[in-house]
Amino acid sequence: MQTSTREIADRIYRISTCVPDVAPGGFTFNQFLIDADEPLLFHTGPRRMFPLVSEAVARIVALQRLRWITFGHVEADECGAMNELLAAAPNAQVAHDALGVMVSIGDLADRQPRPLGPDEVLDLGGKRVRNIDTPHVPHGWDAHVIHEETTNTLFCGDLMSQVGEGPAITTDDLVEAAGAAEDMFQATCLTPQTGATIRALADLAPARLAIMHGSSFEGDCAGALRALADDYDRRLAAG
Ligand SMILES: [Fe+2]
Ligand SMILES: [Fe+2]
Repeated sequence: MQTSTREIADRIYRISTCVPDVAPGGFTFNQFLIDADEPLLFHTGPRRMFPLVSEAVARIVALQRLRWITFGHVEADECGAMNELLAAAPNAQVAHDALGVMVSIGDLADRQPRPLGPDEVLDLGGKRVRNIDTPHVPHGWDAHVIHEETTNTLFCGDLMSQVGEGPAITTDDLVEAAGAAEDMFQATCLTPQTGATIRALADLAPARLAIMHGSSFEGDCAGALRALADDYDRRLAAG
């Protein structure tokens, strides 16, 4: 497995490792590093990927400097290497939505996490990330996303996942590929709130979507998120 790194917006880096066995054409596991006065890593990668991810992070930001570790929800690919990273990055702290801290992270993390309230902004110094709670979207009671306001980048985690190893970032429409991945994995929690939660993210009108699995997207993100929401509404109605 090889890990590649690409800057997808000003001082925002996508770290990507494609795992061949997960799906035909492979399946990428992506972490995003926001380089700021207080650098933030979104997703740690699974525990077994820690050597690859930590090395890729350290090429951009010394692990001593890493200040924040956050992720979309509690799952191995999002946060499996959390404690390995906390050990390697002595100044880092996990930040997660308050519900997630109460339910899981307060117990799982080796250092005391920092709970984030709904819509709370972390000022990273040069970058600003807003916490947006999205319970059960795409899955997990503790699910949340973050929005980096200076570059208008939405870190939407598993939303818009695609299989295969495409470019780091694309302007091509990804909604169809996301539907195919949903057909394959059925990973999304379909509830009456799913579509509405995704449409609320579309209202942010992000310039780009930093996507955990597959290519990131730049272009009409509001339109893409609304199309994704419509697709989930259709799936829910179909039963
Ligand atoms: Fe997930
Ligand atoms: Fe994931």
